[in-house]
Amino acid sequence: MTTAPLQGIKVIDWTQVQSGPSCTQMLAWLGADVIKIERVGLGDPTRTELLDKEGLDGLYFLQLNCNKRSIELNVKTKEGQEILTKLLKDADIFVENLHPGAADKLGFSWENLHKLNPRLIYGTIKGFNDDSPFADVKAFEPVAQCAGGAAATTGWWSGECNIPTQSGAALGDSNTGMHLVIGLLAALMQREKTGEGCFVQQSMQDAVLNLCRIKLRDQLILEHTGDLKHAPSYPKIKGGNTVPRFGNAEGGQVLGWCYKCKGWETDPNAFVYIVLQNEAKPFAEACQALGKPEWINDPKYNTPLARNLVKDEIYKGVEAYTITRDKFEVVKELGKAGVPCGPVLSMLEIEKDESLRKCGTIVEVDQPKRGKFLTIGCPPKFSNYTPNIKSAPLLGENTNEILKEIGYSDGEIAQLRSNHIVCK
Ligand SMILES: CC(C)(COP(=O)(O)OP(=O)(O)OC[C@H]1O[C@@H](n2cnc3c(N)ncnc32)[C@H](O)[C@@H]1OP(=O)(O)O)[C@@H](O)C(=O)NCCC(=O)NCCS
Repeated sequence: MTTAPLQGIKVIDWTQVQSGPSCTQMLAWLGADVIKIERVGLGDPTRTELLDKEGLDGLYFLQLNCNKRSIELNVKTKEGQEILTKLLKDADIFVENLHPGAADKLGFSWENLHKLNPRLIYGTIKGFNDDSPFADVKAFEPVAQCAGGAAATTGWWSGECNIPTQSGAALGDSNTGMHLVIGLLAALMQREKTGEGCFVQQSMQDAVLNLCRIKLRDQLILEHTGDLKHAPSYPKIKGGNTVPRFGNAEGGQVLGWCYKCKGWETDPNAFVYIVLQNEAKPFAEACQALGKPEWINDPKYNTPLARNLVKDEIYKGVEAYTITRDKFEVVKELGKAGVPCGPVLSMLEIEKDESLRKCGTIVEVDQPKRGKFLTIGCPPKFSNYTPNIKSAPLLGENTNEILKEIGYSDGEIAQLRSNHIVCK
């Protein structure tokens, strides 16, 4: 049997909603024992958010908390704090994403925990860094997308829709969780060498900004050259002093656009994305496949700079081809011709996609009480390890076993229950 990468690693998970739970779920998939600390009687707020079936934990919770164990614990009591302290004494990783100052206020600061257990790695997620003027501000997904440069550069660059727009992808939440995973894994490697844990802080603003570094590239190009020739508005609209929203433009210097396909009038996702490469050979191949061989040698089209000046005309020409075919036909034909392209897949199409299920990207999980639900499994695929995606814990499901593991007797557990330190 293959050893899980994080087998033997104990994680105390005091996180909630999405950013922190996405991080600890990934650690669990890599084989860590993840113990989720939840508020007595309430638990993670996502347990009761967007309910699709009355009385059952919500899908929001289930999709972010698989393979964990749950203990309901009132950390605002002396006894609750003692229990958390005991759990942390021999833990490898602690992760929290409470509002700024909340964990410190209850005695669980980095300084205290480093003294308690010098090997412990402490991971924390906040909206903003300590040096930020917004360091004390609470944050959710769109806050991070707005402060991290994503909203200002996403959406349409003109007209009524020229407003900051957030992505449907969780750049502020799950992306931050994945950034913290990287930090925690590096800290584990470091601890192998030094024997000492460290503090890993990941702000949501930084995680978004890290994915917007090409937009900072554009800002500098704009300042150095006075224009952004790869902006979709070029050459029609003279740019301002900052990076405009790019709509569906590719973002680099290649000509990429999202085109209507057959059925677009009734299907909002009957679209395909096609990139016309800069180099002469792939451009010529694309022209042949698109039925535009006349573009290959015409100086109006046959260099990237020339094409950039007439891109609206090119978009129209390509769309004349795509609109007569459905998006899958387009990808089949153009893909064969070596043209980079992809269908716009709806969530319904993704849900039903057999290939995503076959490779374990979309998995069906059997959840106590509910039965089967679909989730997105572990994105990295290993040659010698396949995470077994298991159910998410019911609220406080593992309270007894966790307390026994740190030395509490049945009598003591009963007492803790009657005092509401753990679940009722
Ligand atoms: C997400 C967020 C906005 C929610 O803020 P919130 O509504 O104040 O909720 P929190 O859980 O942080 O804190 C609520 C209280 O519950 C308490 N609490 C949490 N777990 C507890 C437990 N097991 N036992 C007792 N009390 C608990 C906290 O100590 C806090 O008490 P306080 O307000 O007296 O300090 C905030 O936690 C935040 O900004 N987090 C950092 C960024 C982040 O990760 N955002 C989430 C993105 S998905």
